Amino acid sequence: MSFSTTPDQDAAEAPIGIFDSGVGALSVLRHVQARLPSEHLLCFCDSGHAPYGGKSDAQIVARTLAIADFLLAKNIKAIVVACNTATAAAIEALRQQHPDLIVVGVEPGLKPAAVFSKSGIGGVLATASTLASSRFIALRDQITEATGVSFLTQACVGLVEKIEKGELSSPETVAMLERYVTPILHGGADTIALGCTHYPFVQPQIEAIARRESTQPITIIDTGEAVSRQLERLLQQRGLQRFETRPGSLQAFTTGSKAQLEHAFSALLQQSPTVNEILP
Ligand code: DGL
Repeated sequence: MSFSTTPDQDAAEAPIGIFDSGVGALSVLRHVQARLPSEHLLCFCDSGHAPYGGKSDAQIVARTLAIADFLLAKNIKAIVVACNTATAAAIEALRQQHPDLIVVGVEPGLKPAAVFSKSGIGGVLATASTLASSRFIALRDQITEATGVSFLTQACVGLVEKIEKGELSSPETVAMLERYVTPILHGGADTIALGCTHYPFVQPQIEAIARRESTQPITIIDTGEAVSRQLERLLQQRGLQRFETRPGSLQAFTTGSKAQLEHAFSALLQQSPTVNEILP
């Protein structure tokens, strides 16, 4: 495979699309902004169709391809599938449909979880759909075989809906987290991979449970940073990185409520981009 490394300034001006079923996109977006501040970014939150976790693979593939078409019509040079569930179900279909597009996906950080684990047991929180996917099962088996670290997995049914509503520390959300996280801790896990991009927004609540329920220090793994590094690497390989001292622009799109996404940006990232509400 050979890529041009000669910077193409016109092509580099094109934006990068980042999408998720909802506000999980923001937990990846913040890492992309930190690493690639001069890039123009389009952030698509499919909140009108969230959660993806209970949908069939065919439905997730259809949403992913439709969102990619929407972003490609805006001339994106790369797309970040900022959703573990969509990566597991649809990244192959997306790559097949758009073989020349830079496509970066996200999967639960089992590799770093294995590296950090001293107990030999890692924990994974994700959607039921991600945990049942052949992609996840292959990753888990491969890491366990290579490192000897085993994984306790927990599907966090209902958690994405709470985070979509901005209920990060309501009594119901905290009770739900206790129900999901405590068995993993009591099972001896000393690392927890956040296998859904919504979950970094409840990391402080997970840490509080870990401090209370575990006798050992717990490392929590969010893959947003690794995703931004991979995106940078691929842009560099193709000579598509935008080099500018002025910061890039950010535009957001939602199939849900504009007011809700504006509120999420302000509460979660302290930002106020233009938010466009589009038909689901
Ligand atoms: N943020 C998505 C993920 O990373 C949530 C999926 C959902 O909507 O259920 O898996």
